[in-house]
Amino acid sequence: MNPTAIPSPYTPGEAPSVLVGRGAQLADAQADLALLATYARFLGRVRVHVGSRGVGKTSLLKAVRDEATGAGAVVAWVTARGDESLVAALVAATARALDDIGVDISRRTPLRDRLQSLTLELGAGPASAGVELDVRPAGAPDSGASSAAFGAFVTAAATAARERGSAGLCLLIDEIQAAPREDLRTLAYAWQELQQASPEPAAVVIAAGLPNTPDVLTAAVTFSERFAFRTLERLSRADAAEVLEAPAREHGVAWRPDLLAEVVDLAQGYPYFLQLYGDAVWREAGPAEGDELGPDLLPRTRARVDDELATMFRARWVKATPGEQRVLGGMAELTGAAEDDVRRGALADHLSLTSNDLSVPRRGLLDKGLIEVAGRGALRFTVPGFAAWIRQETGG
Ligand SMILES: Nc1ncnc2c1ncn2[C@@H]1O[C@H](COP(=O)(O)OP(=O)(O)OP(=O)(O)O)[C@@H](O)[C@H]1O
Ligand SMILES: [Mg+2]
Repeated sequence: MNPTAIPSPYTPGEAPSVLVGRGAQLADAQADLALLATYARFLGRVRVHVGSRGVGKTSLLKAVRDEATGAGAVVAWVTARGDESLVAALVAATARALDDIGVDISRRTPLRDRLQSLTLELGAGPASAGVELDVRPAGAPDSGASSAAFGAFVTAAATAARERGSAGLCLLIDEIQAAPREDLRTLAYAWQELQQASPEPAAVVIAAGLPNTPDVLTAAVTFSERFAFRTLERLSRADAAEVLEAPAREHGVAWRPDLLAEVVDLAQGYPYFLQLYGDAVWREAGPAEGDELGPDLLPRTRARVDDELATMFRARWVKATPGEQRVLGGMAELTGAAEDDVRRGALADHLSLTSNDLSVPRRGLLDKGLIEVAGRGALRFTVPGFAAWIRQETGG
């Protein structure tokens, strides 16, 4: 090992050192935050960035969090889960963020009262310590009352934040598709009602979720105009090259164009793969400042990446139920090496299932982010290479 070797600047599975190709999304967030900071505006639409696993949702949301902090907002971050009340988690995260700027909820009458009535509405445990909130989902509370209570809490929190000189409240929700429906309803109704509030609370919600998020939200709230969806796409070739080159450049290390082009091909614009390949190339090379990364590195790099992908694919495979695995196997057989989309009808025929039988495993796989809808009546895998791995694994 070269003693002067620079540690890998690539970040498979973590937020990247350089966020490439998301300028439009960040500009939207900046515009919202400017309205919040300058005019204490309430942003009545919830922006939701939707995209496949590994396309960069969490990384984007983290960059938004940095923007929001930079704009002087009180920022609450929640990763939604099915076994946790999203609203309670948002309230707890907001209380912690307020505490950070010296707002002690337990000593502020309006906030404390709001928190207590919200706690009652949610059926959660007593909010004695102010921020200690029981976040288990509480059956089916009356969403009218809980949305009013949540709205009142948001208003009180935003007021307290502004009084402290903060820009307002920025709520960030990752994996929003996983939240319990009741909570999505409470959030949506609260945001609807706050639209008419006077004065309006300085607050914004920005969220990220899997491609099935619009379906999940529409099923939860019947009206989904409150939500503005935007799809996070894979990266263009130029952006993909930049993902590889920018971290190396910072260390005075260059990619030879031939290696760069090959890795860009292999990664198919998929940010997670770019980071995996970048990391593997770097570890193979162990470069020092002034070095160049060339195509001789590729064979051993590919072997490393294939090992890591096999581990990831196995982890995803075992999360699928036997019925879901059968559907994945059928899709892997029907999709060619080019990983074409699979028509739902063809899949049902292939597996000798009625389209009714197919619907439960299909939904499960969509919810887990293993497959996605590819236009009318067609499905596809969300991650390149998964189909080939399944074919190999199942001997198909
Ligand atoms: N714009 C980008 N530029 C460079 N690297 C990126 C970018 N977006 C994501 N990445 C990298 O891609 C990988 C996946 O990113 P991230 O975890 O944000 O995806 P995700 O959509 O949240 O995935 P999941 O659905 O599994 O939670 C990480 O290694 C991250 O460093
Ligand atoms: Mg994520």
